[in-house]
Amino acid sequence: MAEHVQIREVGPRDGLQLISKMLPAEQKLEWCRRAREAGMEEVEVTSFVPPSVVPQFADAAEVARGAVALGGFTAAALVPNLKGAQRAIESGIRKVNYVLSASEAHNQANVRRSTQQSLDNFKDIIDYRKGLPGDQAARLKIAGGIATSFGCTISGVVPEARVLDIAAKYLEMGADELIIADTVGYGNPAQVRRLMSAVLKEAGSVPVACHFHDTFALGLANVTAALEAGVRAFDSAVGGLGGCPFAPGASGNINTEDTVYLVESLGFETGIDIAALLELRREVESWLPGERFTGSVARAGLPKTFMRSSNAP
Ligand code: COA
Ligand code: ZN
Repeated sequence: MAEHVQIREVGPRDGLQLISKMLPAEQKLEWCRRAREAGMEEVEVTSFVPPSVVPQFADAAEVARGAVALGGFTAAALVPNLKGAQRAIESGIRKVNYVLSASEAHNQANVRRSTQQSLDNFKDIIDYRKGLPGDQAARLKIAGGIATSFGCTISGVVPEARVLDIAAKYLEMGADELIIADTVGYGNPAQVRRLMSAVLKEAGSVPVACHFHDTFALGLANVTAALEAGVRAFDSAVGGLGGCPFAPGASGNINTEDTVYLVESLGFETGIDIAALLELRREVESWLPGERFTGSVARAGLPKTFMRSSNAP
């Protein structure tokens, strides 16, 4: 049996952050529904930030409720603080992806506080969960994200020891998952292999995901390196959309179709249907004319030699 790798669509969140056109909630929900139909187990459906900060997510509560009502997948939401987590939980969300940055400068630009203050705010969310009714607390997952883990467009080098230190603090506070993010796409495969091996060692049985951006066309090479290190979960966006509005020079996420193609080609099983993803991508392209969509599978089609790992001899 091929080993499972989880690929999570983050297009309705990260994919839309830099896009000025407001996508209606029905289309965001159609994105989620089709991602689920394609086999996604988890979709990051929205972001609970003030509408004044990212207007695209003014409809976060509506999208979250709609996505939870769709069922059949984990609807996750990005949150930058306790207020965001409270709003997400009120909207029925059962997995919140908290974000802070290893780069002090990016943390200030992104969430207007120090990294240590962000860590303290994470503890507030963990404590808030403790006060929720038993079943609600038990089913709520809180992931700790570390943005700019491989470098920062504002401050440059981010020491690996700093990322490991933040990861250790997250784990100590009770994070249910770590998301190691290359927010600006500075990572290279050697760096990914080294850092992710160390993070996995530190995390023990706590799941670890990688979130890569493809600024220098190293996104998929970084996925390969992370797989070799033992990472089994990745964030990606259909059409390679995405980028952080508060990281100068940020560019798109790794492309979901190409990531599934790579991971399946390497003999892992994703449970995701690439043809259904390509249909979803065409739909999203029709909603967002003029935006830049990337992707080799969309351009060239699947090679005749391609075989899903589940069908491999
Ligand atoms: N959702 C909605 N409203 C929120 C909120 C949230 N998550 N967090 C704070 N607010 C409201 C507060 O209630 C307050 O409202 P008021 O003026 O009516 O009292 C106002 O926003 C300011 O609150 P404050 O805590 O001072 O926030 P801030 O102005 O320092 O901004 C963040 C901090 C974290 C909310 C903001 O920087 C942010 O949303 N950053 C995320 C950026 C992002 O999306 N980056 C891309 C993803 S990595
Ligand atoms: Zn991102």
